[in-house]
Amino acid sequence: MTDYIGVLDSGVGGLSVLSELINVMPKGNFLYFGDTKNMPYGTKTPDEIYSYTKNILNFFVKKNVTNVVFACNTTSAVAYDRLNEEFKDVVKIFPLIQTVIKSAINDLKDNDTIAVFATRATVNSKKYEMEIEKYNSKVNVLGIDCSGFVEIVEKRLYQDEKSLELIKSKMDIIKQSGARRVVLGCTHYPYLLNIFKKFNSDIEYFNPAGCLSRIVKENANLSNDFYNGKGEVKFYVSKSPEEFRKSAEPFFNIGDEIILVNQ
Ligand code: DGL
Repeated sequence: MTDYIGVLDSGVGGLSVLSELINVMPKGNFLYFGDTKNMPYGTKTPDEIYSYTKNILNFFVKKNVTNVVFACNTTSAVAYDRLNEEFKDVVKIFPLIQTVIKSAINDLKDNDTIAVFATRATVNSKKYEMEIEKYNSKVNVLGIDCSGFVEIVEKRLYQDEKSLELIKSKMDIIKQSGARRVVLGCTHYPYLLNIFKKFNSDIEYFNPAGCLSRIVKENANLSNDFYNGKGEVKFYVSKSPEEFRKSAEPFFNIGDEIILVNQ
């Protein structure tokens, strides 16, 4: 039987993680689920996000997936603890924030400030603060609610004047804070990195995807065959496959088929 790693997100954001997973495991097989029907997650309640993610996990379990990457900060922040408890006997879950946090603050000194660009639900959860506290309680954490950024990516509004104004307003907060590093705390945001850099190229940007992928490679419960597989990737969405394709195309080469799943 073929081993697959399941990768989930609300939409195209998780593709920024999938690219890195493929980089480190080029022969691995992956199932990607974009929950486009319920996107964006960041403005939903924790209970709603929990229930959307649970549906996707059940979908993966039916496909015999035994390792799942939460390529979504929001889900990792508000739904991982409950879902891990419920699914731990059937699926090994890699939640984004918890898996990468040590690297995100690596080399920061006491009293340094780290800013986190994230969705509203992630910022409200204080998950970044709680996880950072475990390793260094003297680092200051500044969560910045970047509601609206996800739609810029999903609706391809990169050139829109309003998009640039919104991004600039968040970059201004960073400048004033004196933060040393900004975590791209939503997997959609790496696709905005060029715009961020236009406004501020001096600060360090941390994209968790590379680190997450290396840790998944080392710790997933997979047979050796996985690493020498066919390098197959299957895409599933809960709404509008063609819209998903259009939003993904600028940065990800989706194959022929995107399968619509009624969740
Ligand atoms: N890309 C996800 C994240 O990392 C979800 C964004 C959303 O749907 O609001 O948080």
